[in-house]
Amino acid sequence: MVGHFEGVEMSKMISDLEGYFRQFVPSRDSLLLELEEEARQEGIPIVGPVVAELLYMLVRASHAGQILELGTATGYSAIYMARACHEFNGRVITVENDSGMVNRARANFEKAGLADHIQIRAGDAMEQMAEMSEPFDFIFMDIDKEGYVGILPYCTRLLKSGGLLVIDNVGFSAAEDFNRVISNSPQWRTLHLLSLLPLHSPEKDGLCLALRA
Ligand SMILES: C[S@@+](CC[C@H](N)C(=O)[O-])C[C@H]1O[C@@H](n2cnc3c(N)ncnc32)[C@H](O)[C@@H]1O
Repeated sequence: MVGHFEGVEMSKMISDLEGYFRQFVPSRDSLLLELEEEARQEGIPIVGPVVAELLYMLVRASHAGQILELGTATGYSAIYMARACHEFNGRVITVENDSGMVNRARANFEKAGLADHIQIRAGDAMEQMAEMSEPFDFIFMDIDKEGYVGILPYCTRLLKSGGLLVIDNVGFSAAEDFNRVISNSPQWRTLHLLSLLPLHSPEKDGLCLALRA
């Protein structure tokens, strides 16, 4: 396909862009591959290697040492973020309301050698955040989309000025209210990305990056 812009012929695009970019999905170690296989078999909606790598890069590049994750599942994304902040002695607090997942995540943090760097809190995200007062540099929100709007004021309170909030699954209709609210809030500078995310659940989704003013 050849694009045109004001009568000027532009360079040819790579055909089948979605298929083409799948070859560049970053490689993973055996523990992460095992967690991906479990997720496939059991239908656990983990972020997959592309969003996880983005989280790794954002944490590492922003030198985020105090990280909060909402929605742990088996611990896949928390392991990426803990590895990213390991070098500068950072830590991850992750919240999960399913006790079976809490136990599985704990075991996976041990296997990853990260038990001292990740603290898992069992319970509802909003209830847990209501108890927190420590400021965070980075928050990753990955719970049920219906909870996003209600939890936003807690993120506003707990995230430092200049801190980053990353929100997964904003392409679901259940996230529409949230998308409108955060985009209209003077407390956040937001960017919505429509993305192809190979091995994500689902592969075509929206991601929102929001910077705390
Ligand atoms: C999409 S999965 C998290 C995946 C994980 N972030 C990853 O990519 O490896 C969402 C998890 O959030 C949990 N969850 C959903 N609503 C929650 C809430 N209100 N409070 C705490 N956990 C919640 C679910 O039990 C589920 O395990």
